[in-house]
Amino acid sequence: MNLERVMDYIQANEQSFVDQLVDFLKIPSISAQAKHRPDLEKAADFLVKEFDGLGLAVEKIETDGHPLVYAETGQDPSRPTLLVYGHYDVQPVDPLELWKNPPFEPKVANGVIYARGSSDDKGQLYAHIKALEAYLRTDTALPVNVKFIIEGEEECGGHNVYTYTEQNADKLACDAVIISDTTMFDENTPAICYSLKGLCFMEIRVKGPAQDLHSGSFGGTVQNPGNAVATIVAKLKDSRGRVKIPGFYDDVLSLDSSERAAFASLKYSDRILRRETGAPRAWGEAGYTSLERMWARPTCDVNGIWGGYSGEGAKTIIPATAGAKVSMRLVPNQKPAAIAAAFEKYVRRIAPKGVEVEVLNLHNADPVLVPRDSAMMQAGLRALEKGFQRKPVFIREGGSIPIVGTFQQALQAPVLLLGLGLSTDNIHSPNEKFHVANFVNGIRTAAHLLVEATK
Ligand code: BES
Ligand code: ZN
Repeated sequence: MNLERVMDYIQANEQSFVDQLVDFLKIPSISAQAKHRPDLEKAADFLVKEFDGLGLAVEKIETDGHPLVYAETGQDPSRPTLLVYGHYDVQPVDPLELWKNPPFEPKVANGVIYARGSSDDKGQLYAHIKALEAYLRTDTALPVNVKFIIEGEEECGGHNVYTYTEQNADKLACDAVIISDTTMFDENTPAICYSLKGLCFMEIRVKGPAQDLHSGSFGGTVQNPGNAVATIVAKLKDSRGRVKIPGFYDDVLSLDSSERAAFASLKYSDRILRRETGAPRAWGEAGYTSLERMWARPTCDVNGIWGGYSGEGAKTIIPATAGAKVSMRLVPNQKPAAIAAAFEKYVRRIAPKGVEVEVLNLHNADPVLVPRDSAMMQAGLRALEKGFQRKPVFIREGGSIPIVGTFQQALQAPVLLLGLGLSTDNIHSPNEKFHVANFVNGIRTAAHLLVEATK
């Protein structure tokens, strides 16, 4: 099939695509914050208008959380069907003072778009819409049927898209699910991700005295919740980076030698890691390289820790309460529920005497592994090579996309993770960015994929 007109259209409309993405990025659709509820509606409406303008059948599905947007092209049973998933919600923006440019006033400079959501995930998602537009506006026959399911609760742990998928498996039926919500290997190397980590997110709450106490009057006579949280956290990992929770590693699928060799052949080093993170040095579980730790070893990290006074000057107290939020990123075949139970049991056992401890399981996601030898993976590799004019590689990722497991189970379809972002795009962090070149090559890739998926 000749895609010349489609590619010409993409080339001719590059600037306009960027301008339209900028409009999408202006909507502060922060799903975690109730005050932004109207902005989530706005972002959903933006997509509805977009699909409507392209002549797709589109539905805005209200839920008890944020709306889902579903759209489809005409469905011809003789063609294969692709389901594109993405999320229009974004992460909170604090600390706001560290943004060089306001997060919802997108700035395009030197081929880079700066805005919250530019890479995660509005820009990546939008590439698929613009690829479809290029077919429709040039009257190029679609080689496949396309469906879109786009949610607004990915970043805040909403469950509506899972329920919807399970209850509408026939409607979402497809030959492959396509997701662009991951990264390239590096600026010059496009990638298909074949494994995502899962998540087990816990909170520890420690209660001591009924109220803060003078640390002179009562210090040394009662347990201090701040010290107690520190004691617990200190026992989660040993000095060699191994997680000490009994049973934690029981279900971990170990890396085989071919995978280790494939990781080692990729150009990555601790020097690159230092540059990417600004950390003084690489550190992690002994016996593994940084890429192995990042992609294939489970983790246990404090995400937040609190208790007592941390303001200016001295305030001598024994705090009444203290706590920590801890995330464990899981790898195949660990199960979040089993890990949560093991965590709670261990924390209760190691908690110092003299405090009450509460352990909460806030959020879970299953780890994901997709076979690398499917026809769809090969189609993805060919599409990336054509779209980026570079040879793609296989990678794994440390992040999570909770819906992927549900897609695999409920739709029984292969999932193709075609990442257009960079690990240095500052997702979830100040100054998030997305490179125009990756956006445009992503549109080209998505356009090629519609053909490659039929082969
Ligand atoms: N796009 C990310 C997932 C991601 C991050 C993939 C980094 C590859 C590299 C996604 O939007 C995300 O942030 N997911 C959350 C899920 C969590 C809230 C369950 C995550 O990984 O923290
Ligand atoms: Zn995302």
